[in-house]
Formats: sequence, structure tokens, C-alpha cells
Amino acid sequence: MANQLIIHSGHPLIGQCRVPGDKSISHRAVIFGSIAEGHTRIRNFLNGHDCFATVNVMRALGVRIDERSATELVVHGVGLDGLQEPEDVLDCANSGTTIRLMTGLLAGQPFASVLTGTDQIRRRPMGRIVAPLRQMGARITGRQDGRLAPLSIAPTDLQAIEYDMPVASAQVKSCVLLAGLFAHGLTIVREPGPARDHTERMLISMGAPIEVLGGSTIHGERPQRPLKPLNITVPGDISSAAFLLAAGALTPGSNLTIADVGINPTRIGIVDALAEMGAAIQYKSRTEQGGEPTANLVVTTSQLRGTTFGGEQIVTMIDELPTLAVVATQAAGRTIIRDAAELRVKEVNRIDATVTELKKMGARITGTEDGFIIDGPTPLHGAVVDSHGDHRLAMAWTVAGLIAKGSTTIYNAHVTADSFPGFEMTLRALGAEIEEK
Ligand code: S3P
Repeated sequence: MANQLIIHSGHPLIGQCRVPGDKSISHRAVIFGSIAEGHTRIRNFLNGHDCFATVNVMRALGVRIDERSATELVVHGVGLDGLQEPEDVLDCANSGTTIRLMTGLLAGQPFASVLTGTDQIRRRPMGRIVAPLRQMGARITGRQDGRLAPLSIAPTDLQAIEYDMPVASAQVKSCVLLAGLFAHGLTIVREPGPARDHTERMLISMGAPIEVLGGSTIHGERPQRPLKPLNITVPGDISSAAFLLAAGALTPGSNLTIADVGINPTRIGIVDALAEMGAAIQYKSRTEQGGEPTANLVVTTSQLRGTTFGGEQIVTMIDELPTLAVVATQAAGRTIIRDAAELRVKEVNRIDATVTELKKMGARITGTEDGFIIDGPTPLHGAVVDSHGDHRLAMAWTVAGLIAKGSTTIYNAHVTADSFPGFEMTLRALGAEIEEK
């Protein structure tokens, strides 16, 4: 896999492409399929590093998972009470979704387990899941009183809680709901913003007794009946499509279609944001796939204007904000992104890293406590930039490289495969000039 990408600008992006399956949905299909009764078939599974961390953890818990092809899995569900004590520490690699959802699943099991991952994962905050799980009675220990992994879970019986989430996080919500499936009583979760709802949708489709009330409150309890297995084709990941949407909107002369992308309302903040800035994006051929709405997204090059973003829209595009910052460098006027302090606890501190790297390319960008202030339009110039080991940053810098004068070299670019295997090839097929080293 390429460790360095060299991006040459000056080519329009034209044609039709697809993006790999949605990362959040792929993780959930494997985890929930594992505790269903029967065989779950997953097509268009994201064969990236993060989702394979989940596959390996489920295998270590005694679940048989067959790989029919690179993107098709069959998960032989063991039922709600069928997971087995793992022989070794569970390695979540670099995947925050894996460690946070698995901690919720394992907290109420009748056996002990230990979850860990890369040094990046061991720096990310776990207190946000450990706190509610401890309220449920979970016996979890970890470094710094459970704020950091490795997390060690002792067997116990869980009690349901009513939990008001302090941050809008789908990983926290999913963790508590998963623990709730194994707890006595009715678990109630209230969220402060519309965090992605794939967990609720999927578990409800499997027959779990979960109810969504008024959008912000979710009830769940221990199922009386086994969960039904899934037969699912995972929609294309809108977070991956976002790089292409941004590149299409910015690169002169572009006209591209991204087929079968998930357009769940809790995920389309980036499409709305680009449209608010003046980007021409259309939804075509809307349909549904695996209980999730999908469409083909069509984007053409557009003149953009600076805009202010904040509030509830932020959680619906949290992973896309570094890319939005790249876009904002080309918009006329000032763009302000606020209420996005969560960016500081992603794979890396995405506020600091974005400011550092985009400045190398000439961007007029300032980091704030909870976001960015960007003035545009600013011509970017090619530079040597670093992904900081963060897949989304490597791809955001690629978008910047496509419109910068001269060539841009991205170090530590192999991480694109965490969530978007084939990223470089997809762009090349649309006309981009990208070298790999
Ligand atoms: C995810 C939720 C988000 C997102 C991450 C995937 C998920 O994290 O950033 O890439 O699959 O639940 P938070 O829940 O921490 O916001």
C-alpha cells in the first residue's frame, strides 16, 4: 500500500463511480449479526482495516464469520447468550467504533474480557462509555480510572439506566443500547443532537424491543425473543463520498456521479453544507437498501461562498469537517465552523492537524476551541503534508492537492485504506493524476 501520495492538479473529475460500503453500518452488521440467531449475509461490506478489527474481535469471541469475497461476509450468529470467553486480549486495532461498541456488548457478559488497540486508540477518551456502563453496574477498569484503554471487563449483571448523554455521539449511544440488551429493566437514552441512528434502525429491523421517541429519546430492553439475522447490502459510505463531492465541486470542469450512497438524514450534513455554500449537488434514483435510504449523488463544479456552520448540523457531518475546511478555502468570504470540539478527540486532534497542514498549502485558516475560521478564496499551492496517521485527513489533503498549484505530497497516506480501500484508484478512474510511492 502506498505510503506517499503525490497529487498533480489540473484535471477535471468526470464520470460515474462507487464508494465502498458504509463503515458505521458494516461494523454494526457484523456485531449485531453475531448475536442474532442464524446466518447474517452482508454484501458490500467495507473491507477496510477498521471493520476487519470488528470481524477479528467477533471471531475471538467464538463467532464463525466466512468471507465469501472481499466484500461479502456470512456471520453465523450465536444468539444473545452464545458468545464465548476470549482466549486473549481483544485487539480493536485503530477503530473507535469497535472498542466503544464492543465494550457495551461485553459489559453484561458472564465472562471477563480485555479490550485494547493501537497507541492512537489508547489515547482516545473512554470515560464517556465507562461512566454510563458503570452506572449500569458494569465492572470496568482501565488506565486513569477507566478513562483510557486497555479496558478490562469483569462479568456481572447489568441494571437498566436512564441516561442523558453529555455529548452527541453515536458510539456512546450504541454502547449503552447494546449493554441495555443485556440489562434488567428499561434503558432510556436521551441524546443532545441527532447522532447517526444506524444502531436503532438495524436492531429494530432485527426485532429488538427498541423504540425511538420524538427523535431524541430511545428506549430499549432485554429481548424476549432471539434477534433475527440480517440479509443486507450496505449502502455506499457518504463519509467517503464526501471527498469526491468536495473534489467535484472544487475542480474546474468536473461532473461526476457517485452511485448508491447512503443518505440517512443523520449523515447528510455535508451535502446540505456544500449546497448552502452554493455547490450544485443533486440526489437521483432514490431508493432504500438495508433499511437505509440511498441515492446517486451528482456534483458539478460550482462557485462557493463562505458560510457559518454550528449547532445540530455538526454531528451530522462530524467526520467531514476537515474536508469542509478544505472547501472553505475556495469559498468567497469567511466560513466559520463552530460547536465541533469533538474534532479534538477523533483519531487525532483534527482541529490542530487541519490548521497545521492546510497552512502549509497557503490556506488562511485559524483554529478555535471548537472549530475553524477560514477566509477565502485563497489559491492553495502544493506542499509536503502529513496525514498524522488519520485516514480522513489523508483524503482531505488529497482534495486540497487536486486544486493546489503544483504537486502535493502526502506522507503516511496508507491509512486511506482504514475506511476507503481503493481511494486513489477511484480518483484516477475519474481523471485525477495521482502517483503512489
Ligand atoms: C461513528 C460515530 C462517530 C464517527 C465515527 C463513527 C459510529 O463517532 O465520528 O467515525 O459508527 O458510531 P462519535 O460517536 O464519537 O461521534
